[in-house]
Amino acid sequence: MLNIAVIGAGAVGTSIAMSLEPTMPVTLLGRQSDVRTYYDRETETQTTVDVESLNTHQGVFDVIFIAVKTYQLAAVAPHLSRITHANTHIILAQNGYGQLDSLTDYHAYQGVVYISGEKKGQYVTHFRDRRIHVQRDSHTEQLAQQLVHSKLEFVLEDNIEQTIWYKLLVNLGINTVTALTQDTARILKRPDVYALCRQLLVEGLTVAEACGVTFPETTAEDIMQIYTGYPDDMGTSMYYDLKNKQPLEVEAIQGYIYRQSQLHQLHTPTLDCCYHDLKQ
Ligand SMILES: NC(=O)c1ccc[n+]([C@@H]2O[C@H](COP(=O)([O-])OP(=O)(O)OC[C@H]3O[C@@H](n4cnc5c(N)ncnc54)[C@H](OP(=O)(O)O)[C@@H]3O)[C@@H](O)[C@H]2O)c1
Repeated sequence: MLNIAVIGAGAVGTSIAMSLEPTMPVTLLGRQSDVRTYYDRETETQTTVDVESLNTHQGVFDVIFIAVKTYQLAAVAPHLSRITHANTHIILAQNGYGQLDSLTDYHAYQGVVYISGEKKGQYVTHFRDRRIHVQRDSHTEQLAQQLVHSKLEFVLEDNIEQTIWYKLLVNLGINTVTALTQDTARILKRPDVYALCRQLLVEGLTVAEACGVTFPETTAEDIMQIYTGYPDDMGTSMYYDLKNKQPLEVEAIQGYIYRQSQLHQLHTPTLDCCYHDLKQ
């Protein structure tokens, strides 16, 4: 039986742990020993979950999901050598890209997370979806076999770059405009904001292409269409982080795309401007 840990007892981490729990034991590691009250909106069930301290945990794990915010990874990384062995596989359950650069000593994968939830104090609500996409290889194929009876959908991709970039682009448009205007999805009804959002996607697609990831020509329109379907009062993670005076995951989303644009010497004025505004 695999020895699995999840680091980060927040919305995504607790949801991953609870999706795996019925079929296999999972250690949920947080900043300190604690408990979470986990409410699953789909099944309308409430469970109390124990959280153990990452700082003092002495166990060693075969698989570790990391579900802290991207800017919190630096504080987690120093603990990894203590709780891994030579064949431990680490899956980053985070938005954004570029974080693997700090985990080059490990077998680490960038996951693409489709899990919707929220943490308020010790209370975690899971709204919908329990899906993580990762690159297919012999290790992830084995892991997928082990997880097949769990509630976590572990999707193997032949080209994870495409999946990572698609989510990056979806986050780029709506997160940027809702954060900059400090308004919810209804802000897209303003023609100037709609045009700005679309232009961000167009520039983002240019950067993706320079990185070797191509999308169909209709992708900017398709993503705008997805945004148009969002309820007016829907916020984004960046919108809520700003409202709650929390740091934003700018460096892993807009910052990553901006740095790739610079690297490839591309002309992306809207992206550059929005990135600099968000950084302030
Ligand atoms: N929430 C969603 O619906 C959703 C959807 C898709 C993707 N994502 C992505 O998933 C990632 C995680 O987001 P989230 O919403 O789950 O964040 P979250 O609710 O804030 O959870 C992060 C958890 O990590 C813990 N943590 C931070 N630093 C730690 C450390 N050094 N050691 C141990 N635990 C630590 C935090 O503890 P404290 O509470 O004490 O700070 C918190 O419980 C982000 O990249 C996010 O963009 C989220």
